[in-house]
Amino acid sequence: MIEFNNLNQEIPYLLLKEKYDKAVNAGQEGIEAIVISSFNNDINEVDSRFVNLKFIKNDEFIFFSNYKSPKAIAFNSHNQIAALIYWSSTNIQIRMKAKIKKTSHEFNQKYFFDRSEEKNALAISSNQSKEIDSYNQVKENYNKSLKNDNLRKCPEYWGGYSFTPYYFEFWEGHESRINKREIFEKIDGVWKQSIIQP
Ligand SMILES: Cc1cc2nc3c(=O)[nH]c(=O)nc-3n(C[C@H](O)[C@H](O)[C@H](O)COP(=O)(O)O)c2cc1C
Repeated sequence: MIEFNNLNQEIPYLLLKEKYDKAVNAGQEGIEAIVISSFNNDINEVDSRFVNLKFIKNDEFIFFSNYKSPKAIAFNSHNQIAALIYWSSTNIQIRMKAKIKKTSHEFNQKYFFDRSEEKNALAISSNQSKEIDSYNQVKENYNKSLKNDNLRKCPEYWGGYSFTPYYFEFWEGHESRINKREIFEKIDGVWKQSIIQP
C-alpha cells in the first residue's frame, strides 16, 4: 500500500487518489509497484526498473533504494526520470515526468528505524546490482548482517528518493478501445489540462 500524507489538493493528485482508491477496492495486487526510468548521461543509456512507492507526501513521491546502485549513479548523472504505474484491476495507466532527488538522512534514519530487522539486514548487506560469486554468498552476507550489524542504524549508502511530477497522463482503458487520455502539465506553476487521442 502507498501511504498518503497531507495530500496535495491540486487536480492531478486528487485524480490519482481517486484512481488509487478504485484499484484498492478492486483488489489490485502490488499496488505500490511503480516503474522508474532513468538516463545515465555518462554511458548514454536509458534503463527501467520497478520499485515500491512508499509515500505520497503532499506532492512528493517517495521510494527507497541503494545510493550506490546503477539507478543512483544514473540519477546523479541526470536527474530527469519517467515514472509509470499500471493497475490491471481497473485498467489504468499513469505516466509521469519529474526531476528526482535524495531525501534527507534524518528522514531515511527515521524510516529505517521503524522497518523490520530482516529488511534492514538486506539493505545493509547487499551491494545492490554488483556481481557476486553465488546466491549462497548473498545469503551468507545477509545472515552475517542479521547477527552482527546495528539493524536500526541507516547506512549512508541507503535511503529515499523523492520526485514531484510536472507532467501526468491518466490513461483509462475501455473495452471499445475508445481509451480516455487526460494530460496535466505544470507550466509556470499552473496545471494545463488537455485531452489527447487514444
Ligand atoms: C515489484 C518490485 C518492487 C521493487 N521495489 C524495489 C525498491 O523499492 N527499491 C529497490 O531498490 N529495488 C526494488 N526492486 C528491485 C529493482 O527492480 C531493481 O532490481 C534494483 O533496485 C536494482 O536496480 P538498478 O540496478 O537499476 O539500480 C523491486 C522489484 C520489483 C519487481
